[in-house]
Amino acid sequence: MSSGERPELGAVPETALWTLWYRAVAARRPDAVLRDPKAVELVERIDHAFADRFGTSGLQAQLQALRVGCFDREVADFLAREPRGTVVCLGDGLETQYWRVDNGRARWLTVDLPELVALREQLLPPGPRQRYLAADATALGWAEEVDRHHGVLVTAQGLLMYLPPMRVRALIAGCAERFPGGSLVLDAVPRWFSRLTLTGRMRSHAYQAPPMPWAMDADERGKLRTASPAVAAVRDVRPLGGRGPVGALLPLALTVPPFSTRRPSVVALEFAAR
Ligand SMILES: C[S@@+](CC[C@H](N)C(=O)[O-])C[C@H]1O[C@@H](n2cnc3c(N)ncnc32)[C@H](O)[C@@H]1O
Repeated sequence: MSSGERPELGAVPETALWTLWYRAVAARRPDAVLRDPKAVELVERIDHAFADRFGTSGLQAQLQALRVGCFDREVADFLAREPRGTVVCLGDGLETQYWRVDNGRARWLTVDLPELVALREQLLPPGPRQRYLAADATALGWAEEVDRHHGVLVTAQGLLMYLPPMRVRALIAGCAERFPGGSLVLDAVPRWFSRLTLTGRMRSHAYQAPPMPWAMDADERGKLRTASPAVAAVRDVRPLGGRGPVGALLPLALTVPPFSTRRPSVVALEFAAR
């Protein structure tokens, strides 16, 4: 490996290396479904036995890239509507989305745990329109720091599954009530997947994923509306494209039960305007 940073992270912050690694594995391919040169550059700079620990599964990399593509599309659509809007990235880890979709005018706020923010500051120093906040996303104090003048989009990518369900509900309600007219894009693992993590049976190569107590099957997304009356709409965000067998099977997996209902999901919540 390189002579770069050698991060020592706790189990949940380490998941940011896991997702970074698979974005880089996906992006290294000439026929990649996600372009992410910054992620490729980062894994070369970080002194971590990525491949030994997390493996190099092409399938996992492509599925991860397709999920990331859903978030990128939502952010790009938001910035097309609100070019000077604020994108708040909860549990941002070492996401490189800013380098993939920034429009040169938006504001970006990263919220993550202190050890992760310290690492991010070293590896990805913030530009003038970016800000990093070391905070627990569920405490909602970060909401006071958000510039609301030009629209707000909050993302929680790869975060909520690690939280207790009551905290997820409170976080959704807190966002809905604090950002009228705004939106939240989140992802969820299905219940069967959560059970595997809770019983220690979810392994990715030599890596055991931490417990994921919050889960939601894809056909349960309507329940997210009950978190707060300020959640006005819930929309399924579906992966597009895909290469080889994944691309061929994706339309079936998205429409034919039980695959369509037991799959991981990305969901956009729209908040009522006041
Ligand atoms: C799987 S990583 C996802 C990172 C990034 N969003 C991505 O998709 O690559 C989960 C991230 O959530 C952060 N995290 C976990 N619990 C958190 C909390 N309560 N508040 C803020 N961040 C949290 C971790 O530190 C880690 O960076």
